Amino acid sequence: MLGSLGDMDRRLKANRENWNDRVSIHTQSDFYDVEGWLRRSPGPAPREVALIGDVKGKTLVQLQCHFGQETLQWVRAGARVTGVDFSPAAIEAATELSKSAGLDDRSRFVCSNVYDAGENLGGEQFDVVYVTIGSLCWLPELRPWAKVVAELLAPGGQFYLFEVHPFTNSFDSDGVHLLYDYFEEPSAPQIWDSDTTYTDGGAVAHPRSYQWNHSLSEIVQSLIDEGLRIDTLIEHDWTVFQQFPWLEKDGEGLFQIPLGYPRLPLMFTLHARI
Ligand SMILES: C[S@@+](CC[C@H](N)C(=O)[O-])C[C@H]1O[C@@H](n2cnc3c(N)ncnc32)[C@H](O)[C@@H]1O
Repeated sequence: MLGSLGDMDRRLKANRENWNDRVSIHTQSDFYDVEGWLRRSPGPAPREVALIGDVKGKTLVQLQCHFGQETLQWVRAGARVTGVDFSPAAIEAATELSKSAGLDDRSRFVCSNVYDAGENLGGEQFDVVYVTIGSLCWLPELRPWAKVVAELLAPGGQFYLFEVHPFTNSFDSDGVHLLYDYFEEPSAPQIWDSDTTYTDGGAVAHPRSYQWNHSLSEIVQSLIDEGLRIDTLIEHDWTVFQQFPWLEKDGEGLFQIPLGYPRLPLMFTLHARI
């Protein structure tokens, strides 16, 4: 059941304020290492290129692009890119970053709630729609999101999603005790009060945020129902951040389940075409 529109607007507003506060902390953090990123000029991750393939001359849109690092990496692989985020501070930082990296002639960043992205991008369609880690948990409902994904895809276009596995979001931060619902419940978000963010650095002025979980089948079915044909779904037993204290960092910078522990899904990758 949906909560009243007033509740939903209030929660999205709180999330936007919380994300606005995080931007300047993140751009100065060791975690995102903007200086190193500018120096190293990385392209997209090899595991992404392996699925998406050659993007030379293609168009790509990243939904919930934050301050644009991942979006801009695709310019270095030959794409023209668009990043969408509802945080004005993130869009401003992404635009600045594109200039510092000398990639502003093949990129643009648009401030929009993801649910309104189709309209705010003027009906434009893209060869690739790209969504990565830490995006879906901010969305109260996936069905309208999947509709936007389908609207944004050009005929024959590809959708790529790399996300935290929703099973892990049911655990307390110790990664041992079950605490939260696994299934989508738009009117009952998880309420977080924290003046820190997931990077090193300062405190946020708007500590309250709201998050929602979506089960793996809710994610997959929302896309199928919008006409996407899923060709790849992989559950990973590794992750890219210290989600639980018992995960061990390996030599590649990934976080692994220690030997002897039950193997659980920690992240997943989904690839589809329309
Ligand atoms: C963790 S980032 C994901 C980007 C990237 N994977 C990263 O880790 O930097 C989450 C982003 O979602 C954005 N966001 C949250 N809710 C949104 C919404 N309803 N519409 C558009 N953007 C939203 C936030 O502003 C934030 O920049």
